[in-house]
Amino acid sequence: MRNEDIDLVIMDCALSPVQQRNLEKAFFAKVIDRTGLILEIFGRRARTREGTLQVELAHLAYQKSRLVRSWTHLERQRGGFGFLGGPGETQIETDRRLIEVRMKRIELELASVKRTRGLHRKSRRTVPYPIVALVGYTNAGKSTLFNDLTQSKVLAEDMLFATLDPTLRRVSLPHGGEIILSDTVGFISDLPTMLVSAFRATLEEVLEADVILHVRDIAHEDAEAQLADVETVLSQLGVDPSGDRRLLEVWNKADLLDPDALTAAQNSAQRRSAAARPVIIVSALTGQGMAGLREAIEHRLAQGRVTFDVSLEPENGSGLGWLYENTEVLQRTTAADGSTLLTIRVAPERAERVRRKFFADGREGQASLDRAS
Ligand code: GTP
Repeated sequence: MRNEDIDLVIMDCALSPVQQRNLEKAFFAKVIDRTGLILEIFGRRARTREGTLQVELAHLAYQKSRLVRSWTHLERQRGGFGFLGGPGETQIETDRRLIEVRMKRIELELASVKRTRGLHRKSRRTVPYPIVALVGYTNAGKSTLFNDLTQSKVLAEDMLFATLDPTLRRVSLPHGGEIILSDTVGFISDLPTMLVSAFRATLEEVLEADVILHVRDIAHEDAEAQLADVETVLSQLGVDPSGDRRLLEVWNKADLLDPDALTAAQNSAQRRSAAARPVIIVSALTGQGMAGLREAIEHRLAQGRVTFDVSLEPENGSGLGWLYENTEVLQRTTAADGSTLLTIRVAPERAERVRRKFFADGREGQASLDRAS
């Protein structure tokens, strides 16, 4: 290793502190294990307060678990001197207590950050924009796709975990619909257990999403294994990968496929879409297929939505305010008598409230199911 001038060795497994030290001695290089590496990357990428706190918490839990192990090690070392409870033990106990105090403090702060985030989300929820969340294996191209859809500059690099914290942007769709697009952290297989909650909490947006875009690197040799990993996490989050109608699969990096592979992918995408499990083939890098993706998102959102034509008396300002706050206003005109005519659209679960509020006299002929197809 010394001859090769290698400074850092990363082991794709968990190492005890003793193993780590022995390997460092043998290699003459710094050694870190899988958890250490993921923590390092999480730490560099964390952008929000919540992300930073979660990484710090995971880091402390990692350190604490290593203290326990090195205690056994020290105990063994001290064994020969024939005394128990020496300075080593006190030091470890103190270290552990300090870590616990720090963890407690971070947990409290996290709870308060989450409360604020919850409030923000609630206020965003009253904005009638549907939420579209991107999920996918790390490096699948989520950030690149996000940038293309939002025309923004979110960090996109050929690096694992370029996204740790959810990023939200407003996006206009071809037919005037507006959505909030949410980018999420990349999934990986065998995530160390102590990192699960740091990872999960960044995925809360997914549960609230109206559409979930599962971005896949279709040119990757492990594409199928990655699919299985992502679907496992989705089911753990409560999203049924084979039955949830919010899911759309986006097969990305089509530009890397040779013509035969592309044709095969197109055929299988067509079969899947016929079976109501839509697949859209794109290249987020070249822009190929992106118009189709925007259409597909809009189409999916329109399905099941209910459109109403509402007529409001000129003095009904509160009704107008309510509609703007709770529904998607597609059109607004003022009639000759001063009343306001609105065409609005709502998710099926909100339709009943609109009916009760504006069609109390039962003139339901005004409502129509939007079957945009
Ligand atoms: P994480 O943040 O790790 O979850 O990654 P991500 O899914 O956000 O991936 P990202 O957008 O950072 O892209 C990863 C790499 O794939 C970058 O080098 C991109 O340039 C590249 N990439 C993304 N989309 C495409 C594509 O359609 N074609 C090709 N050839 N490369 C792409």
